Amino acid sequence: MAAPLRIALAGLGTVGGGVIRLIETNAALITRRAGRPIEIVAVSARDRSKDRGVDLSHYAWEDDMTAMAARDDVDAVVELVGGADGPALTLARNAIQHGKSLVTANKAMIAHHGLELAELTEKAKVALKFEAAVAGGVPVIKGLREGAAANNIDRLYGILNGTCNFILSSMEDTGRDFADVLSEAQAKGYAEADPSFDVEGTDAAHKLAILSAIAFGTRIDFASVDTQGITRIQAADIAQADALGYVIRLIGVAEVDEEGGQRRLFQRVHPHLVPFDHPLAHVDGATNAVVAEGNFAGRLLFQGAGAGDGPTASAVVADLIDIARGDLGGEAGAPFSIQVAEMETMAPAPSGHRLGRAYIRFMVADRPGVLAEITAAMRDAGVSIESLIQKGRHEEGGNVMVAMVTHEGPEARVSEALRLLEGSPALAEPPLVMQLLGD
Ligand code: NAP
Ligand code: HSE
Repeated sequence: MAAPLRIALAGLGTVGGGVIRLIETNAALITRRAGRPIEIVAVSARDRSKDRGVDLSHYAWEDDMTAMAARDDVDAVVELVGGADGPALTLARNAIQHGKSLVTANKAMIAHHGLELAELTEKAKVALKFEAAVAGGVPVIKGLREGAAANNIDRLYGILNGTCNFILSSMEDTGRDFADVLSEAQAKGYAEADPSFDVEGTDAAHKLAILSAIAFGTRIDFASVDTQGITRIQAADIAQADALGYVIRLIGVAEVDEEGGQRRLFQRVHPHLVPFDHPLAHVDGATNAVVAEGNFAGRLLFQGAGAGDGPTASAVVADLIDIARGDLGGEAGAPFSIQVAEMETMAPAPSGHRLGRAYIRFMVADRPGVLAEITAAMRDAGVSIESLIQKGRHEEGGNVMVAMVTHEGPEARVSEALRLLEGSPALAEPPLVMQLLGD
């Protein structure tokens, strides 16, 4: 039997605890598949005295997790602490510079510093693996880097945040309110340490930026992901969408937009209306799903549990098995499928010319002339309305909801209509716009 792959584990929370349980429970199977055992040597977290439901007495404890990077008895470091910068990034840089392979579930760090870390791994000839950073237990990074490696991919889209999907589908099924369902998602271990990263769309944007880089061979550009979360969605929007034949899902879309021979990168994370007959409409709970369109493979759908201890640990340990087998991700390590120097820089694509249908919800003062003002703005901007509904009066002089769906047209026209309405005393709050997901 070959010598074990010796690992150090930083972070013993939801995912770290799951990794220990998985390595201990499936030890014999992992050894057979990897060709050698995976052995935990050292662990680290903030609070040594915390009961984590796992026995840590066989492992060395490091108060300072960065010290793990320099241990001679460690081959690979697993970072499960979180945060784009701070201790996680310091550990990652140190581990690679000390010649250790790095496995992480940290999408924030990869979205912000992935290229720098990839360049370090290219020099150090070690692995940088982050399957668990995107879509939890779903092997979408492996699928794109390996399974679809021969394809040209120009578009991908999907549900990339388990917490938001859990919230939206639970609100839809049970009519419970947002805050109540968010607390349940936190209790199940789905949410980020700061759940605003989930509900404001940032976490999905991190993941989308990583997938774009792998699928299109572009340099990661998290800053240009147009991001809108789910915090403004009300039960009334979900009911209205349902009446129209749609569910609401937070969807990430990335596309290479070619105009005049110039390739530009379109990246957006927004809540969308998804038709009942679309495969993504049936993705419920903390499940994630990613659709990628390959020019030879056709449409590929990757789907499964997107968050939680077991699925995420499964992806982390799969990366460790690859490393134990000697697969560092290419001859000199290419975590994004191609070497960093060969990745293309694409300018962000504008969205105004994109054709689509939109759901627009207004909260308006219930008085004569308000509807006429809204429809006049639509007319003046060239937006054609397919359907419009005003939802019942709450109280004399109170606000009411007006929801409309537009015919297909350029997004710039809807933006222009909303610009014309800006500052109107008829609007009680800024309108909410959600695109309808096409094919
Ligand atoms: P978590 O439950 O909050 O665990 C974080 C762990 O890191 C804890 O053990 C904590 O120590 C330790 N830690 C935090 N700050 C530290 C510091 N300054 N020094 C030392 N240790 C520190 O988080 P998680 O849900 O496991 O997530 C970990 C990573 O996986 C994040 O990058 C997250 O985005 C990613 N991820 C999570 C999921 C999921 O479903 N939860 C899925 C995919 C990816 P104490 O326990 O002592 O406080
Ligand atoms: N907070 C993340 C989510 C964890 O809810 O999807 C998985 O990346």
